[in-house]
Amino acid sequence: MYTAETFDYDDVGKIDLTNIYDRPDPRSYYATLRRLNYIIPQTAKPVFQHVIDAYRQAHDKDKVRIVDVGCSYGINAAMLKGDLEMEQLYSLYAPDVTANARRSQLLSRDQKIAEDVFKESELEVVGLDASANAINYAVEANLLDGGVAADLESGRPSPEVAAVLDDTDLVISTGCIGYVGESTFKGILEVNAPRKPWMVHFVLRMFPFTEIEEILSANGYVTEKVEDQTFLQRRFASEEEQEHVLERLASLDIDPEGLESDGWYHAEAFISRPLDARADLRLGDITSS
Ligand SMILES: C[S@@+](CC[C@H](N)C(=O)[O-])C[C@H]1O[C@@H](n2cnc3c(N)ncnc32)[C@H](O)[C@@H]1O
Repeated sequence: MYTAETFDYDDVGKIDLTNIYDRPDPRSYYATLRRLNYIIPQTAKPVFQHVIDAYRQAHDKDKVRIVDVGCSYGINAAMLKGDLEMEQLYSLYAPDVTANARRSQLLSRDQKIAEDVFKESELEVVGLDASANAINYAVEANLLDGGVAADLESGRPSPEVAAVLDDTDLVISTGCIGYVGESTFKGILEVNAPRKPWMVHFVLRMFPFTEIEEILSANGYVTEKVEDQTFLQRRFASEEEQEHVLERLASLDIDPEGLESDGWYHAEAFISRPLDARADLRLGDITSS
């Protein structure tokens, strides 16, 4: 069940993966996360598509501009614009396929894939990530339509950041909250004001969404949690990691039975929209729509 790899732990008890987030190309990212069965972009995809459809209906337009917060190497962009699956991405960057490739060769291949599979897309996806390498790769490969490397936890948006993040219809994230919190969302709201982009965030149960929800509420949003479902993120890397997480959940009074106790991280999905956008339909009840 567990890999034999050893990892350091971060201050909330998760394994520390920061050394794969900022490499010149995505190979280590995909190789490491595949071994951990990281699948949240895949489990999130139908919810993103559902909300994109609802946004299009509500605004009577096809073109949707998305900001992916903590976008890394453009994973959600590839999956939404090109209708690719996580397993296809893992295969594309697998060591047996890419071990001898130079970065420039990978980039050319990915530019070609983007050209072929994004052709019909009416989605424009730009990214924000603290990792300059990840952003550079995803932008050069044309997986992202734009991107900026910045850490809005430690500073306000610069004009360069604002230019990428403004005019947004929808803000999304997977696997990122915990690294980012209220400060990043304040920054995104600030550069978009008075426009209020819709938002969909997948958040591990060990990270309460409350404080971000409060910021959004104070800015005229209402948040729905997708009901009766959790979303698999990845399996624990070790029994030790699972123990840390179970302890943290216990301290938050969250019952792990049938979920984290079975060996996987689970995320919840939060959909936030401006108050005036809600009248038509509830989005949190996606199973019945
Ligand atoms: C687990 S990865 C998730 C990547 C991608 N969303 C996915 O699901 O595959 C977390 C990402 O958050 C980024 N990150 C960490 N701290 C950040 C910050 N303060 N601002 C923006 N991104 C950050 C990391 O560089 C990394 O790319």
